[in-house]
Amino acid sequence: MCGIVGYIGKRNSLPIIMEGLKRMEYRGYDSAGVSIINEKNELISIKKAGKVSCLESELDIDVFNGNIGIGHTRWATHGVPNDTNAHPHFDMEENILIVHNGIIENYKLIKNRLLEEKYKFKTDTDTEILANLINYHYKNTNDFETSVRLALLEVEGTYGIACLCSKEPDKIVVARKGSPLMLGIGNQEMIVASDAAAIINHTKNVIYLEDGEMATLEKGSFHLKTVEDQDIFRDYQVLDFLLDEIEKGGYEHFMLKEICEQPDTIQNTFRGRINFDTGVAKLGGLQSVEEKLYNAKRIIITACGTAWHAALVGEYMIEHYCRIPVEVEYASEFRYRRPILNSDDVVLLISQSGETADTLAALKEARKFGATTIGVVNVIGSTIAREVDAGTYIHAGPEIGVASTKAFTSQVMSLALITLMIANEKKTETPETLIKLANELKHIPEKIAHMVSLKDEYKKVAMKFKDAKNFLYLGRGFNFPVALEGALKLKEISYIHAEGYPAAEMKHGPIALIDENMPVVFIAPQDKAYDKIISNIEEVRARKGVIIAIASEGDENITSYADHILRVPKTLALFAPIINIIPLQFLSYYIAAARGCNVDQPRNLAKSVTVE
Ligand code: G6P
Repeated sequence: MCGIVGYIGKRNSLPIIMEGLKRMEYRGYDSAGVSIINEKNELISIKKAGKVSCLESELDIDVFNGNIGIGHTRWATHGVPNDTNAHPHFDMEENILIVHNGIIENYKLIKNRLLEEKYKFKTDTDTEILANLINYHYKNTNDFETSVRLALLEVEGTYGIACLCSKEPDKIVVARKGSPLMLGIGNQEMIVASDAAAIINHTKNVIYLEDGEMATLEKGSFHLKTVEDQDIFRDYQVLDFLLDEIEKGGYEHFMLKEICEQPDTIQNTFRGRINFDTGVAKLGGLQSVEEKLYNAKRIIITACGTAWHAALVGEYMIEHYCRIPVEVEYASEFRYRRPILNSDDVVLLISQSGETADTLAALKEARKFGATTIGVVNVIGSTIAREVDAGTYIHAGPEIGVASTKAFTSQVMSLALITLMIANEKKTETPETLIKLANELKHIPEKIAHMVSLKDEYKKVAMKFKDAKNFLYLGRGFNFPVALEGALKLKEISYIHAEGYPAAEMKHGPIALIDENMPVVFIAPQDKAYDKIISNIEEVRARKGVIIAIASEGDENITSYADHILRVPKTLALFAPIINIIPLQFLSYYIAAARGCNVDQPRNLAKSVTVE
């Protein structure tokens, strides 16, 4: 998704901006651009469709030389991804330059008004309208900051922006509404970015802008205010993650690194949150809403993408162990379908980034009805994390690969902790069961580490399917959401069509697709559903489908049913999704890598979808 970076200080801005753009590449984008104010106070700008490296290869570093600049990676919303529509955008007179994340919803209305004023436009973007609206106000006010402010008061929609003005060449004006933006406070220099990854190499001291706030940055100083013109004083926060954590650490891809990190990330999710002697879980961030949670008549879990699959696991967990009715909603549907919500409902919002537009809108919808909102979020300080009534961080660390892996397992682990917490309070499970579950939880990191050590075995199977055209993933009970997530991982990064289905439901449709060219992944550990799954495997075998089984270690019986076996350690139902998804993550990774796909930045996908 779009990324913004800007620099003002004593250093040459270009290398800092280019580095920032590269660090934000993981978010997904289709074009990139950079603008600098040079020593003659001229605005110089270049933008290109394609990767940051394409932009870099066309840059003349002698020309792009100056202490102030802004850069952007764009993920198209209005207008096709091409050089013209890429950011930064000039106003008609080329005095104002702007980079913008988000969508100006009333841009057509503003455009018509500006057309009447004889403004001309070169692109199809909503952003160019905003540049001209700032120009329009500048003509009346002769003040850059005020013109940006007045323009923003007119726009509806979302924005994170950074703007330059050739008539006031000593400043950058930035603002946010619904699209993240933060200021990095360095020594006599400031970096503005939509992502901490672009800042952290230079300073760890940051100020997050809130919605409806703007800032004017000058060399070594800044001034924060609301778009309504109220001054704001806010101290900086110190970022607590290392750049190293965002980088690949010797792995070929971020995705592989993140899959292999899961023994640690899962431990970070539950560290200090469970008493292994009593089986009682405690999530500090939920303290203020515990009563609401325990007395909820209904829990609604809403999310998008992989987080939605985690939500589905949450439904199975909470209904099974806590006996509270749970509904799972796609955030994009929930927000528009006139949901029935009451003030004694609890709405859980799951989001890795904490910035997904639909999930954020679902949060706002839930709040309108007075429901209690709880976030299950990875990115600290993100919008959802800040706007919920209470929440828990999953502590998976920065996830760079666009296909979510470690965030999924940590989301599921967080839901398991919430389940244990409620089951203890409501006494829906005995203390003995809770202790048994907690004891198993303790061993999950080593079980994942064991699977990481089996990755070459998983790879051997993956290599046999690198040319497959279709895949079917089947599972039952707690493993049904795993089937969905396994299929999603494969299609996202390898572009092989894949579907996930409840295993028994296969007979009502997908069975028609099965022939000798159809690999079918069965999630078939030795659990309560084992015999049923074996029957489903038989049905596929009878139609010559190729069987890949995710099977428990020690299960010899499976060898007479499956063509290929990916072994997993045994566990309890509550943790089955965390264990069983690991070989599926490896399977999709190795297949995609063997096909030469861009694993970390799959085509058309974005890490953080901040538009609806
Ligand atoms: C995008 C990403 C997915 C992610 C989904 C929800 O589609 O590519 O990996 O699951 O958004 O994102 P969130 O940050 O809200 O979990």
